[in-house]
Amino acid sequence: MSAPQRPGTADEARERAEQLRELIAHHSERYYVVDDPEISDADFDALVDELAALESAFPELVTPDSPTQHVGGGPAAAFAEVRHRSPMMSLDKTTSYEELLAWGARMERYVSGPVELTCEPKIDGLATSLLYERGRLVRAATRGDGVVGEGVTANVATVGEIPERIPAPFPEVVEVRGEIYMAISAFEALNSRQAELGARRFINPRNAAAGSLRQKDPAVTATRELGFFAYQVGEMDGGPAFERHTETLEWLRHSGFPVNPHIRVVGTLEEVHQYCKRWEADRHGLDYEIDGVVVKVDDLAQRRQLGTTSRAPRWAIAYKFPPEERTTLLRDIMVSIGRTGKATPFAILEPVVVGGARVGMATLHNADQVEAKDVRPGDTVVVRRAGDVIPEVRAPVLGLRPEGLPKWRFPGACPVCGEPLVRLEGESDTFCVNADCPGQRVQRIAHFASRGAMDIEHLGERTVGQFVRAGLLGDVADVYRLDLDAVREMEGWGDTSVANLAAAIEASKSRPLANLLVGLSIRHLGTTGAQVLARAFGHLDRILAASAEEMAAVEGVGPVIAASVQEFFALDTNREVIERLRAAGVNLEGPAEDGMPQVLLGRSVVVTGTLQQRTREQAEAAITARGGKSPGSVSKRTTAVVVGADPGAAKLAKAAELGVPLLDEDAFAVLLDTGRLPGAEPG
Ligand code: IVH
Repeated sequence: MSAPQRPGTADEARERAEQLRELIAHHSERYYVVDDPEISDADFDALVDELAALESAFPELVTPDSPTQHVGGGPAAAFAEVRHRSPMMSLDKTTSYEELLAWGARMERYVSGPVELTCEPKIDGLATSLLYERGRLVRAATRGDGVVGEGVTANVATVGEIPERIPAPFPEVVEVRGEIYMAISAFEALNSRQAELGARRFINPRNAAAGSLRQKDPAVTATRELGFFAYQVGEMDGGPAFERHTETLEWLRHSGFPVNPHIRVVGTLEEVHQYCKRWEADRHGLDYEIDGVVVKVDDLAQRRQLGTTSRAPRWAIAYKFPPEERTTLLRDIMVSIGRTGKATPFAILEPVVVGGARVGMATLHNADQVEAKDVRPGDTVVVRRAGDVIPEVRAPVLGLRPEGLPKWRFPGACPVCGEPLVRLEGESDTFCVNADCPGQRVQRIAHFASRGAMDIEHLGERTVGQFVRAGLLGDVADVYRLDLDAVREMEGWGDTSVANLAAAIEASKSRPLANLLVGLSIRHLGTTGAQVLARAFGHLDRILAASAEEMAAVEGVGPVIAASVQEFFALDTNREVIERLRAAGVNLEGPAEDGMPQVLLGRSVVVTGTLQQRTREQAEAAITARGGKSPGSVSKRTTAVVVGADPGAAKLAKAAELGVPLLDEDAFAVLLDTGRLPGAEPG
């Protein structure tokens, strides 16, 4: 195949794109026309994928005749050529409010008076034309070069969301245009199936939708869960006369076509901008990918006044979001050791701006992921960064892989301590199990000092690393007996910085129990679990004394966390750390959340019957706000039963059997205020 190279600059990319188009044209002909392919389907797909990746990294390279713009790589035996009755035009693009204003100003030259605009999510799929005659779907075609596309009727007929018939009264002939796409959930499910079959994974939902639509066998397309959004009516003979685009959309909806529910009509470009900003921020809340917003003039008479240029209408514009996928060079794959010893492979990348940020590293999750994606140092890879999600390496661009590039192997030894890495049967993660591994130690102490835990300013990962290497820190309790004189002598430290660090360490001693629990790096115990535990038990000593069953009984804890916490505190070394933390004066007590005294911590109060002063929900909320639980049945762990009018007989009987006190509303009020039961001693 072609000599691989990595297109770093726009010029290199252009050259490579041209080369790819030639290659694709050649192989399309071999496959579709001569029926004697020279390369595998996967290799062919890789060429198209690479071109698509290049075009997404350098959008200016997209041309109407690019094979990425016509599904199937070329019209031939598999897909008959279809000439569109009217061209399927593309859209002018903008990426800023200024350009949007310039578009508005240009429009004003053609139309006067107010202009209403529809704003529509720009679905990242494939533009498709559906022709209905006498209400029946007779032909479906891809956009192709806009003038000629490929007939994909049999494949499109398998798409459940596309009606095969339009209900009467239908126009004699009508062409419906819209976007075929693959939902993100369907894409992920498809990729897991592909991985199980050892088949090629798709890079993104658009690529998967295209691959699914270009199947020679419609039965394969039928398994692919494609979706459709209609956004336009092309030619129409007979049928309603629309005056507005929104009327068209309404008709489409009534005729059984899915129309995007987020389409809005606005009156100003400022509102358009608001809409664009909203969807740029919320795009990941959708189960399909959108790459921008399409803005269209709603009034069809105004559209006619505006007309079109040679390639695009003047009455519409696409506002494009910054791309979330780019290709770049994978320089190396390294493994980092986390605080639990977990070994996580990550990619060192030639830095690239993607999703609005410069990305030089990206996670590869675990050994299986690297294996499934088969990315190798030296590959050109597709990098994705979507929203706040950590950047990820999606796939290699196989067409650009240098010959003989060796497969990457997960290291057998911990890169920090050199001890063997262990992967347990049935688990996806690999671990360094050496408890003395300095890599783990640094991570554990840095995590202890991090914001969600003990929040010790000036004690970040780098500083912790410096102290661990100098032998000043071995575990988290050492933080409170840090030899400050030794620190003062270290490079980069002076009186002021040491004093600041000392103050930060001192301040951390009064963090709530939940923060301390988070800081201890107990497996499976996250922030929420730590908060629930802290609230339920109120003091570390009560957690130390609790059995796994008692912890698991707390709502929101569960057996996995409970067992892990129990195991953690069963270890002498961990107990010893706790004792040193205690001796150092670190707070071990629970929170008073929301300022509400936690007088019912760890206690369980059942409510039955109708109360006068509160609804049942309010009563239960009052109990949980004070740290208690309010289950629906009485057990031996129940502290008291609050009894209103028409109480449940079973609950009363159970309470009597177990000797659980019954409270009226006044006694309940006292319990909520003080945590005391009637007759109990204060305190
Ligand atoms: S209208 C002449 N509306 O974006 C107007 N296009 O370059 C034709 N697209 O190829 C397009 N969502 O595949 C329109 N709501 C939407 C769209 C949409 C996605 C795609 C379409 C077209 C490309 C524009």
